[in-house]
Amino acid sequence: MDTSQLMESQIAFLGAGNMASAIINGLLATGFSPRQLRATDPSEKALEGLRAVGMEQLSTSPERLCDGADLIVAAVKPQMMSAALAPLKNKLGPDAALLSIAAGIPIASLQQDIGESTPVIRCMPNTPAMIGKGASALYASEQVTESQRQLAEAVTNAVGMTVWVAEESLLDAVTAVSGSGPAYFFALIEAVTRAGTQLGLSPETALALTLQTAIGAAELAQRSEVPVAKLRENVTSPGGTTEEALVALREGRFDAVIAEAVRRCAERATTLGEEFG
Ligand SMILES: NC(=O)c1ccc[n+]([C@@H]2O[C@H](COP(=O)([O-])OP(=O)(O)OC[C@H]3O[C@@H](n4cnc5c(N)ncnc54)[C@H](OP(=O)(O)O)[C@@H]3O)[C@@H](O)[C@H]2O)c1
Repeated sequence: MDTSQLMESQIAFLGAGNMASAIINGLLATGFSPRQLRATDPSEKALEGLRAVGMEQLSTSPERLCDGADLIVAAVKPQMMSAALAPLKNKLGPDAALLSIAAGIPIASLQQDIGESTPVIRCMPNTPAMIGKGASALYASEQVTESQRQLAEAVTNAVGMTVWVAEESLLDAVTAVSGSGPAYFFALIEAVTRAGTQLGLSPETALALTLQTAIGAAELAQRSEVPVAKLRENVTSPGGTTEEALVALREGRFDAVIAEAVRRCAERATTLGEEFG
């Protein structure tokens, strides 16, 4: 699919809440026209925000939502998904793909809800998508065509970066790394801020320094051509202050604790997925 075909695609949003609005704003910022986008949501208030950015195809009922749509983005809470897809069941052919951004709902369950003939793509996004800094992983069922994959990727790229995984089960690993990942970094930010406060900094100063350090370290690692381990070594002079801190982390089994947290997160994602299925 080339850029001109992408710019003629029709994308329908089922649910016009936080995530749908963030994606729509991202798509508009990357050159999509409001005429390519439509949305349905039982809440008039949710639709109002989209009217304000120029969208006209807005409805409180899903009746005409999918007529001629190339991609339907299901952006409702996981517990609402079956009910939201029910009016569309067996109404779409293979020309329209379903992209679910709801955490944890397996392809098999989505396929059952939408009907067998519609290709399904599952996405594991994360909350920084709300500010265009998301990390999303996509998994496509076999029926999904190359151009449907490209359109789905344009949607997730509108709120950050996208990777594809080759097996659905890998989405549990993605959940453990990036889906739940923001919480690990928030916990670290809280812990360092608290420790800085205990050393006498004001809470505001400790938080400001910690946040900027987190942003700076992440951006430096992203832009740098040397491995992250080398960047760490570069700030760790033998016998110096950073080394003292890293020794304390090692004594506290930092790596093992993180590994255990990520492993248990993935295990929980698998269990919750099985409960859905
Ligand atoms: N927020 C994030 O950063 C984030 C990150 C990762 C994944 N996600 C996933 O993204 C999905 C959406 O999250 P969100 O934060 O955008 O939720 P949200 O703000 O609650 O938006 C969901 C919207 O869907 C509407 N809705 C409910 N039933 C519907 C139906 N049958 N048909 C059409 N619309 C319906 C809701 O209306 P009412 O309010 O009237 O019910 C609401 O406006 C969730 O599945 C979540 O797991 C979100």
